[in-house]
Amino acid sequence: MKVNTTATGGSYGTKTADLYIVHNLAAVNGNSRHTYHAMPPVGWMNDPNGFNEAFGKYHLFYQFYPYGPTWDSMHWGHYTTQDFVKWKLEPTALAPDASYDTDGCFSGSSVLSDGKLYLIYTSVVGDRQAQALAVSSDGVRFEKLGVVIPGEKLPKNCLKTDFRDPKVFRRGKMFYLLAGAMSDAGEGMIVLYRSADLAKWEFVNVLRKDNFTTRGIYECPDCFELGGCDVLFASPQGYKTQDWRFENVQSSIYMLGKLDVERGVFEKTYEDEIDGGFDFYAPQTMKTHDGRIVMIAWMQMWQRYMPTAKHGWAGAMILPRELSVKDCRLYQSPVREIERYRWNPIGFHNVKIGSRNELTKVNGTKVELIFTLDLGDAKRVGIKVYQKGEHDARIYYDREKDLVIFDRSRMGTEITHDAEEKDASVRSVKVEIKENKLGMRIFLDVSSCEVFLNGGERTMTGNVYSDGDGITFFAEEGSAKLIDLEKYDIVV
Ligand code: FRU
Repeated sequence: MKVNTTATGGSYGTKTADLYIVHNLAAVNGNSRHTYHAMPPVGWMNDPNGFNEAFGKYHLFYQFYPYGPTWDSMHWGHYTTQDFVKWKLEPTALAPDASYDTDGCFSGSSVLSDGKLYLIYTSVVGDRQAQALAVSSDGVRFEKLGVVIPGEKLPKNCLKTDFRDPKVFRRGKMFYLLAGAMSDAGEGMIVLYRSADLAKWEFVNVLRKDNFTTRGIYECPDCFELGGCDVLFASPQGYKTQDWRFENVQSSIYMLGKLDVERGVFEKTYEDEIDGGFDFYAPQTMKTHDGRIVMIAWMQMWQRYMPTAKHGWAGAMILPRELSVKDCRLYQSPVREIERYRWNPIGFHNVKIGSRNELTKVNGTKVELIFTLDLGDAKRVGIKVYQKGEHDARIYYDREKDLVIFDRSRMGTEITHDAEEKDASVRSVKVEIKENKLGMRIFLDVSSCEVFLNGGERTMTGNVYSDGDGITFFAEEGSAKLIDLEKYDIVV
């Protein structure tokens, strides 16, 4: 990207960042930009931070490097929204401009207290990580208050180099804080602290520790109450693959159970991955005034080639999702607000599917599709999106494997990846097939594809870099039926 103003030169600041954004917005190539997902205005975005409702709107902060489409000195960018669909860019909230965060303002969360919005983030200097606080009384300008949990407050056997991603929540009158940490033996951990005033913090306990993270820590923990249980989130680095689960080098997992904040113990009853696709990491949740738990996550993945970088930006967020717990499993559905943006409804019923079915007016790259397949006797049944000639991404049920597969290997763009990752082109999940039927709800937004299977029992998220806008259904080695289909254009 062309640089029109010298911004770096060793001194970062929020104003410098904002000036840089204004001067460089026009240089970003719009080709693969999403229309209803949050993306960096210029430069780089990773984890969502400080996701919350305050001052009459929803706030989304994010890990941001304005000066190029690569990860570098971390700022906190800031968007607000009324509906999780249209995003308004706000002034950059934090820049690494204090003596205790010169090497980055890493991920964290936010909490409202006494009418003020507090940001709790990881302040980095060299290889030292600590937790710091900033405050705002208008939700726009933030004043840094300094480090509140230095590495010295970790248990003795923990490394001060890996202590990050504080997530604060309230229980009764107390604030609790979860963070990722690592023991000196290299075990990933989640640690719990408590405070009455956000300033003085006391260590409670290690909530989780194991040797399942083979190359790092539990990043970005989160915890909330839902459906009578406590749900614990974490994004472990190098989590071991189990069959079709945890296929990314960095996974995001949920655990159901009971959190005893007094003792700092999480009694786990179930654990699973949150999303079985390619591009989903570091999810964070918030509770809305109408009682919904809404989750957002980074719609990208570490250690991969990001094709949009050549256009001057990299990284985006998923369409936020509402969470629920049913039958002791986590279910996800897109925020209901997206339905306000549906246009041009099209419907089909009882269409026999052969090797290739094109349906009139069913195409596009900014669309929502809801359909149910009768899987018939076909070996593979599904849908191709972003299709043109030989290029497509396909999501289908494979009867022999009894898995739903998201295959983007033919999209026409190769995503190179970390040597430890098996590939970056095929992902699978298992869903319950009842009465030989499979339900899918799919959202496309120029270069993304989010799939909700069987009413949100499983999801698969992936970016697709293709030049096509075709959508076709297919059944291989047998036939199947499209029982019903609704298609909408999403216009924001
Ligand atoms: C997760 C993460 C966090 C860290 C941040 C830095 O993606 O590695 O652990 O705070 O990104 O940008």
